Amino acid sequence: MKEWNSFDTITKGKGMWLIDSKGNKMLDAVASMWCNVWGHSNPELVKAITDQSKKLQHSSMFNLTNEPAERLADSLVKISPGMYKVFFSDNGSSAMEIAIKIALQYWKNIGGKKTKIATIENGYHGDTFGAMSVGYVPEFFSKFKEQLFSTIQFPVPNKYKIPKGFTFIDYQDYCLEIIEKKLSKNNNIAAFVMESGAQVAGGVIIYPKGFQRKISKLCKKYNVLFVLDEIATGFGRLGSMIQYNEQKSIPDIVAYGKMLTGGYLTMAATLTNKKVYDSFLGEFNDWKHLFHGHTYTGNPIAAAVANENLKMYQRNHLIKKIQKTSKIFEKFYQEISEIDIVGDIRHKGMLMGIELVTSKKKKTPIHPKKSINKIFFEEGKKHGIYLRTLGNIVMLVPPLAISEKELNLLLKKTIMTIKSARSKVVNC
Ligand SMILES: Cc1ncc(COP(=O)(O)O)c(C=O)c1O
Repeated sequence: MKEWNSFDTITKGKGMWLIDSKGNKMLDAVASMWCNVWGHSNPELVKAITDQSKKLQHSSMFNLTNEPAERLADSLVKISPGMYKVFFSDNGSSAMEIAIKIALQYWKNIGGKKTKIATIENGYHGDTFGAMSVGYVPEFFSKFKEQLFSTIQFPVPNKYKIPKGFTFIDYQDYCLEIIEKKLSKNNNIAAFVMESGAQVAGGVIIYPKGFQRKISKLCKKYNVLFVLDEIATGFGRLGSMIQYNEQKSIPDIVAYGKMLTGGYLTMAATLTNKKVYDSFLGEFNDWKHLFHGHTYTGNPIAAAVANENLKMYQRNHLIKKIQKTSKIFEKFYQEISEIDIVGDIRHKGMLMGIELVTSKKKKTPIHPKKSINKIFFEEGKKHGIYLRTLGNIVMLVPPLAISEKELNLLLKKTIMTIKSARSKVVNC
């Protein structure tokens, strides 16, 4: 933290641009932490917020409900095949804590004995203790290792880092074989938790075709609840509204967040199928209900802006637009991969990870003394772009409705930034 002795103050957002107190403009390549959909200061979303704030700002969901949250729950169930009910919270980590608690309590409610969670190495589900336990990224969480609950972790097929002696297909089959072996022998596994479509914070690892579908099938075969995290990858980020649909997989529980409100207010949702929901029904003294609630659960202003956001997806045919705009990334593959410190490019929809290495052949990650994130942030700023890295990976996660012209500009600025940062991240 010593490196960050001062911060720019953002005072305004306009479209895809952030403007600081000195009037400098930066193109938002981070979608303000992967959640912005329509750009900043969108009049329709601002109106939804102001209209609702004149009627009801907050009312608890303990014993009561409110109209915008009811409407949002209906819409979420409608767009989520197989899902039946919604539990609202106010951030993605909480939505995953809720998913984990529901999955574990499900087995208690039906008189079962399963207590373990299975996950995929390198997954990320948030920064709270349950979320850290199931989404263990060593660089982030090693300081808390002793306090985290143990999970069963399986390897993830990463095309760029296939172990010696395997082809990519062989390695994927091998990963699935180990999963099946474990699920078939260990009848204590309550749930299998994974990100849907790709691991994002763990390094933009895009699952090979069929990987998620096969895990979904294994979960059904061995009676394990399948829990998907679509917080970063759903709602169009990977090019489809509901990523598990594209993956032809069927979760028992799924979590949404980030883009749910277009990136304007804080809200997340955990959805379950009927089987899971019904297990929580009983007489009061059966104690089958879920003891979980947050002050701002189902906040009406957040729900109102989420409702408007969902309508805008439809009105503007956003998913189709993303599928078209995201082709712009492909135009730049060659130019980016020719840069000598670029080892790999991974891209799907509106997500790109550019892995930086000191040797293309050995795939050695760059490791300067100063944080790579700080170097890229400062270089990006010089080129008028807000850029973040995770480890040695430059993340491009723009607002979903970015225009083709602005995405072209963003990619050009990214290339300039990588080239100008080169001397600062190699040999120092
Ligand atoms: C896949 C995934 N799950 C959960 C979270 C946690 O969400 P939040 O930061 O809103 O707590 C994130 C955040 O980046 C995420 O990428």
